Amino acid sequence: MDIHVLTLFPELFPGPLAVSVTGRALKQGLLRLHVRNIRDFAHDRHQVCDDYAYGGGPGMVMKPEPVAEAVEAAKATLGEKADQAPIVLLTPQGRPFTQKVGQELARSPALVLICGHYEGVDERVRERVATDEISIGDYVLTGGELAALVVIDAVARHVPGVLGNEESAATDSFAGGLLQYPQYTRPADYRGWLVPDVLLSGNHAEIARWRRHQSLLRTLLRRPDLLPRAELTKEDLRFLNEHGWAPQGP
Ligand SMILES: C[S@@+](CC[C@H](N)C(=O)[O-])C[C@H]1O[C@@H](n2cnc3c(N)ncnc32)[C@H](O)[C@@H]1O
Repeated sequence: MDIHVLTLFPELFPGPLAVSVTGRALKQGLLRLHVRNIRDFAHDRHQVCDDYAYGGGPGMVMKPEPVAEAVEAAKATLGEKADQAPIVLLTPQGRPFTQKVGQELARSPALVLICGHYEGVDERVRERVATDEISIGDYVLTGGELAALVVIDAVARHVPGVLGNEESAATDSFAGGLLQYPQYTRPADYRGWLVPDVLLSGNHAEIARWRRHQSLLRTLLRRPDLLPRAELTKEDLRFLNEHGWAPQGP
């Protein structure tokens, strides 16, 4: 997958992406990161990329020309993939980034991520250049770079080959819409803090049942908002019902 990042601060990349799972994916070429400095597309010799807001108000706004032209340069290198590449503006006003959105983006052969800064980016970029807008949460960051790093990491986990079998995304939290069950490793007894017996039993069916129930209970206790959209079997619904949860009617 080709990921193009457009930023005023290219030195922030690859940053944490250079290590662990994403670092390996970059080395193997499963992910190809192309970072462009938006400043290289400025029109004047001082490479100014921001200006005062029309109508007044605090802070500077990123000018549309360098951003639009950086996107065009990224698309020009994508060839046939250009039409299938979402042009994502990172903004606290975008659609919330979730595991599902990460999965959806991972199906594209390429991604273009626009990192804003200062008071944000001229509205015409959102209207005319971006094809998608993503927020990583209901808080305001100084720039889109940290958001881009989060999005790239989460998307990478869904790119075929990036996770080995031992790190499957299928059992992670949010797969199927639930939080993951609790995990334990050796020792079985640490200071008298014991691993649940069932996990030591070797009974795979019992372990699977226990894990499913733990997933359901955790989600019910911590994130009941996830349950209406989770993939639930009749048995799951029966179990949740016993614990006081029932789906609401339309
Ligand atoms: C200081 S913020 C601008 C916020 C803007 N004034 C507003 O209120 O919507 C600068 C840049 O950081 C990025 N950013 C900030 N918070 C973000 C979030 N929660 N998700 C994604 N990007 C974010 C965006 O690229 C944004 O253009």
